[in-house]
Amino acid sequence: MRVLLIGADGQLGRHLRACAPDGIELITSSRQAGDQPCDLCDEHAWRTMLDRVRPDAIVNAAAWTAVDGAEDEPDLAFQLNRDVPARLAGWCSEHDAVLLTYSTDYVFGGHPQRAWREDDPTRPDSVYGHSKLAGEQAVTASHARAFVVRTAWVYSALAGNFLSAILGRAARGENLRVVSDQIGSPTWAGELARASWVLIEKRAAELQRVETVHIAGNGAMSWHEFAQQAVAQAAATGVIGREVEVAPIASADWPQKAQRPAWSVLDCSRYLQWTGDELMDIETSLTGCLAQWASPPC
Ligand SMILES: NC(=O)c1ccc[n+]([C@@H]2O[C@H](COP(=O)([O-])OP(=O)(O)OC[C@H]3O[C@@H](n4cnc5c(N)ncnc54)[C@H](OP(=O)(O)O)[C@@H]3O)[C@@H](O)[C@H]2O)c1
Repeated sequence: MRVLLIGADGQLGRHLRACAPDGIELITSSRQAGDQPCDLCDEHAWRTMLDRVRPDAIVNAAAWTAVDGAEDEPDLAFQLNRDVPARLAGWCSEHDAVLLTYSTDYVFGGHPQRAWREDDPTRPDSVYGHSKLAGEQAVTASHARAFVVRTAWVYSALAGNFLSAILGRAARGENLRVVSDQIGSPTWAGELARASWVLIEKRAAELQRVETVHIAGNGAMSWHEFAQQAVAQAAATGVIGREVEVAPIASADWPQKAQRPAWSVLDCSRYLQWTGDELMDIETSLTGCLAQWASPPC
């Protein structure tokens, strides 16, 4: 199967590249690099690329992911998070190809007193959440053969995510203040990438329509609990020199431009039912991530 990976230089894109299965002919694309460099905002360029590559499947790991920045740049956020998946889905629909694209827990708001299921009502509270939901809806309207994979709280050993930020500060000996009133499912990009390939290998051939599926770390905890575990494991494995204090704070004491959901736990039982593959629990994923701290996927 010939798979075009878009957003190949992002956090998830790098992990997808690193664990692509043997049977996959992988063609990579990022803004200025990869086998097929392409700026996704240039409609002519990406259409030419797709017509040249003619993939059997497209994995879209590109997105506008600056959650607070989306509040200031809604047009750009919608361009990347709604219009790009819409066009990719349109191309897939025309060419009988499969699309896998990613969405987020930020499409939800409120607390259902259990983990969010794929069919629960959405209610985004941020521009980013609205833009990702608009992308989901556009893909659904295309009637392509597509997976919309919702995930949450993605971290890795690469720069630019929660884990690398807190461990960077802990490595400098700084104590941490971390919000304890947002609960979610921290997801290692390596595990999300592995599970994405499992989904493609096991389910793409029989996919007939748009299907939404949750893939996230198995379990639930607050950012504060996750930071505590991360600092303890990082100190024990020599990733940082010594443990630092991790103090719990309220979201109100850590003001951010975009509102974050207080409850971001995703029910991933549909993924298990479809693939038979058990997702890694949060603690084990963290161990896997820290094990590659010195040499993350490049
Ligand atoms: N990170 C999370 O916590 C999280 C949580 C839930 C869902 N998700 C979703 O998971 C997916 C992967 O996220 P991630 O963490 O891997 O994000 P990421 O590291 O920010 O990667 C996004 C990639 O998109 C690329 N991109 C942006 N605009 C582009 C353009 N015009 N042309 C070509 N490429 C462009 C970026 O390239 P440049 O670097 O060149 O801009 C970047 O490599 C996204 O759909 C995201 O919404 C993420």
